[in-house]
Amino acid sequence: MNDTRSKITPATEDSIARAGEIIRAGGLVGLPTETVYGLAADATRPEAVAKIYAAKGRPRFNPLIAHIAALDDAPRLALVSGAGQALIERFWPGPLTLVLPFRPGATVCELARAGLDSVALRMPSHKIARAVIEAAGVPVSAPSANRSGRISATSAADVASELGGSVDLVLDAGQTKIGVESTIVSLLGDKPTLLRAGGLPRAEIEAVLGRPLALAGADDTAPRAPGMMTSHYAPATPVRLEAVEVAADEALLAFGAFRPAGIAQAQAVLNLSAAGDPVEAAANLYRSLRQLDALGARCIAVAPVPEAGLGEAINDRLKRAAAPR
Ligand code: TXA
Ligand code: MG
Repeated sequence: MNDTRSKITPATEDSIARAGEIIRAGGLVGLPTETVYGLAADATRPEAVAKIYAAKGRPRFNPLIAHIAALDDAPRLALVSGAGQALIERFWPGPLTLVLPFRPGATVCELARAGLDSVALRMPSHKIARAVIEAAGVPVSAPSANRSGRISATSAADVASELGGSVDLVLDAGQTKIGVESTIVSLLGDKPTLLRAGGLPRAEIEAVLGRPLALAGADDTAPRAPGMMTSHYAPATPVRLEAVEVAADEALLAFGAFRPAGIAQAQAVLNLSAAGDPVEAAANLYRSLRQLDALGARCIAVAPVPEAGLGEAINDRLKRAAAPR
């Protein structure tokens, strides 16, 4: 543990430059972003990208998001349609990932795309993330820095405990602000499709597009994200949702002012947001799940969370955390 914790370094000008060098040299860096911490490698080098799949235990059919530091990089890597351009202008840099047709011959390697002829692009708003990508001088593949299927990392310590043995350096910029992954929209078909609810609420995207987003997998023509496995974000402790009562050997993840029956006897109680604010709840989600998981309770009971705003992303993650493993 000592060994892996010693890889955590405060993000400074020096450590950012070192992170860029490590990525250029084919290594792995734990990278803070505004959503969650990423496990970053050079997206143009298959041998570097292979280390991501190995470190996470991630199936190779599940493509990675290529992170860029400048708006100009998008048309270099992908074919950007009118709708894509409108979303980029309004929401980048920020927690929106766009799946676009890959520009033939562009530098993101085939392994990073899992062999697809599309590419997922994201320009993070986190200054340190962008500074590292700039220092690396290449597009950066960065999945969430957790073992495949487990809870995402929202702090440098989470990255070290999930992947400490395999990263070369973890830049520490504190707890991530948004707390759930980016929203993913596919612009491959003729209808823009929501592949993953995330840190940018769906309604904001629909307002720019002037139409509702199609839902992934709603019919045979709607694209899907290969990585949206039913079981994901899972603590070791079983999770049950929509809890209106809680038992003495259970831990409770509460939301707002609602007090499930038996709350006084629960083994532990954490509230995602006592004020009932979905933005605050998203920021607390993964850390709270990790904390309750560490208690060894029989079950984590989760109180109902409304769907509005970031609630959609929170409920998506909770459903996967509760899904049969
Ligand atoms: O907020 C985030 O997006 C974080 C931070 C680190 O940037 N990254 C992240 O990456 O969540 P990851 O790998 O955990 O999730 C990426 C998702 C996966 O479900 C993957 O299947 C999907 O994006 N994806 C990537 N490329 C795709 C493509 N070409 N077509 C469809 N889905 C794609
Ligand atoms: Mg992930």
